[in-house]
Amino acid sequence: MVHYEIEGGHRLEGECRIQGSKNAVLPMMAAALLQKGTVILHNCPRILDVFCMIRILEHLGCRADWEDNTLMIDAYELRNCSVPREEAKKMRSSVILLGALLGRCRRAVLSYPGGCVIGARPIDLHLTALEKMGAHLCQEEEDIYVETEGLKGAKISLRIPSVGATENILLGAVLADGTTIIRNAAREPEIVELSRMLRQMGAKITGDGTSCICIRGVRKLHETEITVIPDRIVAGTYILAAAGCQGSLYFPQVPARQLVCLKELFIHWRMTWREDGAGLYVCGRQNYPAVPYLETKPYPGFPTDLQSPLAAVLLKAEGESHIRETIFESRFRAAGEFCKMGADVKIEKEVCKIRGSRHLHGAVMDAYELRGAAALIVAGLMAEGCSVVRDEGFLMRGYEHIVEDLHEAGASIISRRCSPSL
Ligand code: EPZ
Repeated sequence: MVHYEIEGGHRLEGECRIQGSKNAVLPMMAAALLQKGTVILHNCPRILDVFCMIRILEHLGCRADWEDNTLMIDAYELRNCSVPREEAKKMRSSVILLGALLGRCRRAVLSYPGGCVIGARPIDLHLTALEKMGAHLCQEEEDIYVETEGLKGAKISLRIPSVGATENILLGAVLADGTTIIRNAAREPEIVELSRMLRQMGAKITGDGTSCICIRGVRKLHETEITVIPDRIVAGTYILAAAGCQGSLYFPQVPARQLVCLKELFIHWRMTWREDGAGLYVCGRQNYPAVPYLETKPYPGFPTDLQSPLAAVLLKAEGESHIRETIFESRFRAAGEFCKMGADVKIEKEVCKIRGSRHLHGAVMDAYELRGAAALIVAGLMAEGCSVVRDEGFLMRGYEHIVEDLHEAGASIISRRCSPSL
């Protein structure tokens, strides 16, 4: 258990470096399995989900070495193709190892993935697509056994533009026999980055970033070296913190074009949003209007991963805001914690209703998932007095330096390891 102790009311000011993207690097690590050499990933964040993926890759037979934020994965030989259950249960991304292992070893054993409890999070789209490509599945309780005589290209239309399912299909299709077409594919930047890396390894992929992706299978892929893009959700979290704390922050290498939805909010709030080449400067204001209605959407819509941090900012907006969560069915856990701060937040089905108020006091709050934990930190920075966010390790799954980053920008925040009984 980690306690984040925050004294609110401090303006944020200065420059913020943004870590490499968690949701880009995890599928890129799985892609390393598709070649018999070494893949080098620069700007790799040292976060719990990456450490978990490393343990899985090492269990499969890979070697992994760090040099600062450069991760080298040697996948020359694999000694097995079963993902250890205790690791698979720790994160959602374990599921995308199916496509990579089928491409490399033609079989895989995987337990149902874990990850943030933000909804049912089925994997039917993943399994149906891989079956269409020639995988044979057998499920025994929690374990999934898959094998194939060799994946074949297929035409796949996704019912939902699932990020993970798109990644799994990409990882399985690059070495498949024939051409695969994915319709209603996810368009997230993380899909584009995975495709960029696979092309560097010799794959034939077009259409990534659009809702129709075409993959022509090749016989072999080779090693590569690539730099992981900055994490747009970490950047968005800090940008929203600046909005809520009248902060003025400069981000030297932020993916501003991936955060147009936040730019629109800054215009609505009459706050400063200034892009200069690769950098971005933002400045918040004391008083800002509520957001009458906003829906989370697949990219390039408002990202579900920034829904809770946005809700935190709206706690002090002038008026009533409504946020409709359309991606996951239970992603409002932070709302109950906001109420401990004196906030007026009500959940009506998939809509979070927030009546903003200038008065928000510190509280002791509990984190229940990664982005909700980040939202509680943002709310603590905005509140009068002290807050404690009690966290079982969610934040460290995705934020490499959140305490150092915010402290350097002027926040009063420390983290303290505590025994669970406290
Ligand atoms: C990825 O999760 C991200 N995780 C999530 O970020 C992100 O919130 C999500 O995409 C949406 O953008 C990683 O990249 C590791 P989906 P993923 O498949 O792939 C339903 C974070 O905080 N669905 O696009 O699991 C699903 O239940 C995490 O960094 C099915 O019904 O998301 C959800 O309602 C949280 N069947 C919707 O689709 C399936 O087979 C979108 O899920 C797959 C998904």
